[in-house]
Amino acid sequence: MVDPADFPILSRTVHGEHPLVYLDNAATTQKPAVVIDAMDAYYRQNNANVHRAVHALAGEATDAYEACRDTLRTWFNAERVVLTSGTTEAINLVAHGWGRAVLKEGDAIVLTEMEHHSDIVPWQMLAKERGIEVRYVPVLPDMTLDMEAYEASLAGAKLVCVVHTSNVLGVRNPVERIIEQAHAMGAKVLLDAAQGAPHSRIDVTGLGADFLAVSAHKMLGPTGIGCLTISQAAFDEMQPFMGGGDMIEHVSLSGSTYQTNEHKFEAGTPRIAEAVGWKAAMDYLAAVDLDSEHQRLLGIARWTAEQLRSLGCTVYGRHGDEDSAVVSFLHPGIHAEDFAHLLDAAGFAVRTGHHCAQPLLHRLGIDSTVRASFYLYNTMEEAEAFVARVAYVLERFGR
Ligand SMILES: Cc1ncc(COP(=O)(O)O)c(C=O)c1O
Repeated sequence: MVDPADFPILSRTVHGEHPLVYLDNAATTQKPAVVIDAMDAYYRQNNANVHRAVHALAGEATDAYEACRDTLRTWFNAERVVLTSGTTEAINLVAHGWGRAVLKEGDAIVLTEMEHHSDIVPWQMLAKERGIEVRYVPVLPDMTLDMEAYEASLAGAKLVCVVHTSNVLGVRNPVERIIEQAHAMGAKVLLDAAQGAPHSRIDVTGLGADFLAVSAHKMLGPTGIGCLTISQAAFDEMQPFMGGGDMIEHVSLSGSTYQTNEHKFEAGTPRIAEAVGWKAAMDYLAAVDLDSEHQRLLGIARWTAEQLRSLGCTVYGRHGDEDSAVVSFLHPGIHAEDFAHLLDAAGFAVRTGHHCAQPLLHRLGIDSTVRASFYLYNTMEEAEAFVARVAYVLERFGR
């Protein structure tokens, strides 16, 4: 595990003297000092706009920004990396940059009931505008995708958009099989890896994913930045949807020509300090053995899930070998929101609500869960303290 002392925020207390136990990592992760310091140093020493001027600071800022892209290209083994504001913007870039260029009225795309809203709403908007058919793969009672229905949905489909790992259930989908079957039917694949990327190394070229959407803030980096990796073949089909400075080659009053590299999808001044911070986070992550960390965190999640069940909670998710360390649960006697308040009162930060996945919760027949999600700095002792607090809350309220 990483040293919690690397994360300044983890030494604070909340509501008086309660040590913070941060279990809301699927929403956003905390930042190590190296990330905070890198951004601070950038603003103190290097701040300038990128790709524009010849002065020393402009060169340093440009190099720092492009170094983030290079790091991501290597990390994900990607052909193209466009820096975006996060997963949401990355998916919208596929919808507008690729979808508008390629999809025609009557074309079909395939989504799943497990998607985050950011992988549903942009497609619904495009479908309405373009007359595109959207097919949804159901989630089965065992909380996995109905792969037979998936296979059947592929006939004539142009694109499959699927969440790599569910933010509600922690279920890691069989993305290898999903990609293979989609490609066999001529469809491209977009993976929403907002939750998958923080927990495992993803080799997009090895996997064959045409698009992969990621948020930095869920993997120790700053908010406000993420990326879309794109295969060269898909990149060649895309058209920019945001026009402005930096993405052009030449502008005249009668028309414009665009850059040919990733810059054509990065109109305007980009998130430079955030790119510096994300690179520092990736360098920090590179020193972590993500595979063994994954096993350690899964062990904590499995133990927590078991304990919660023994306290009468229903746990949503299966915690299989490749799933992430997310424990979503409910107790029939206490509303999720009240539960979260009572946990927070003792310093435990968890998330409640629909987790931006209303269709999935609808399928599960519920409208919210309490979600504890573990990451690299969490310990078994924290899980034990968390379960003890849950037990206390249930006892105190006579449930
Ligand atoms: C699976 C999944 N997809 C997409 C998103 C959206 O990420 P962002 O808000 O960083 O764009 C999230 C965030 O919670 C997520 O968990």
